[in-house]
Amino acid sequence: MVQTIPVKPADVTWTDDQWKAIYASGQDTLVSAAAGSGKTAVLINRMIEKVVATENPINVDELLVVTFTNASAAEMRHRMSEALEKAIAENPTSNHLRRQLSLVNKAQISTLHSFCLAIVKQYAYLLDIDPGFRIANEAEIALLRDDVLAEVLEAAYDAEDEAHVQAIYRLVDSFTSDRDDQAIETLISKLYDTSRVHAEPQKWLWSLPKAYELADEVTIDDLELSQYVKLTVRHSLEEAFVLISEMRAITLQPDGPAPYAETAEIDFAMIQEGIRISQSGTWQELFDYFATVKWSTLKRVSKDALVNVELQELA
Ligand SMILES: Nc1ncnc2c1ncn2[C@@H]1O[C@H](COP(=O)(O)OP(=O)(O)O)[C@@H](O)[C@H]1O
Ligand SMILES: [Mg+2]
Repeated sequence: MVQTIPVKPADVTWTDDQWKAIYASGQDTLVSAAAGSGKTAVLINRMIEKVVATENPINVDELLVVTFTNASAAEMRHRMSEALEKAIAENPTSNHLRRQLSLVNKAQISTLHSFCLAIVKQYAYLLDIDPGFRIANEAEIALLRDDVLAEVLEAAYDAEDEAHVQAIYRLVDSFTSDRDDQAIETLISKLYDTSRVHAEPQKWLWSLPKAYELADEVTIDDLELSQYVKLTVRHSLEEAFVLISEMRAITLQPDGPAPYAETAEIDFAMIQEGIRISQSGTWQELFDYFATVKWSTLKRVSKDALVNVELQELA
């Protein structure tokens, strides 16, 4: 599409790109530039140009302007009034312009959220909701979410289909350790939140089971999932390594608790070995490591602490 935009006069300070952005029409236009480089100025001028146009001028209340913060919505409105006053000063006899100044307070310049709120309020009857509704606060949302979760789980347990119910029990048993549903609720809640950051939450959720559909010859080491588990294990071991290194250094000090030096040394080496395995070992090797590892320091320290407590109680 060939666009005819006015020739930029020599006496304006707009850059060529700004000028193009002000007059671009008949297409979606994305203006992206650094803070303070003149995006809002361009947007205001786009609006002004549409309002003061000699051909088919529009009214300011026909524009929809949404911003992210209340502060910038207020600033937009203010700058719009200023620009209108300036236009009126240059063209004092224009009734159209005078009318715009009186309309500017009715103009749809708001945050995205309050615009959506206004739409929903206005069409509440079509949505079949109470027009007196309001936005819930964080605490109310948390309570509602708990209610919904409880309902969802209850409905799942009450399903007609026996196989379905069995599947639900297996799911809950796999993720909870005690009798209440807390762990599974937290999991569902987290999944929900994570799904919301995807463009298509439902699609993302439905794609998850694919990660568990595996060819017969696949081993646990082939799974993407095990890499994440190993990484998490490694991070925990690295944290432990920092602590044991500190402890080892303390036992080696002149007045340090020398009796612990030997056990600190053993654990130091053991944690190092664990980090090595979580980095390059197989899942089985990591399993064997944790199955056989003996945390000597931990046992000695806690045993000694117990003896200490008992002695103090006797005294
Ligand atoms: N081409 C320009 N020449 C001179 N000043 C400009 C130009 N473009 C914008 N400004 C001024 O720069 C300042 C910041 O512009 P603004 O539109 O608020 O930036 P942004 O919205 O990109 O953060 C404003 O005072 C504006 O009037
Ligand atoms: Mg801005």
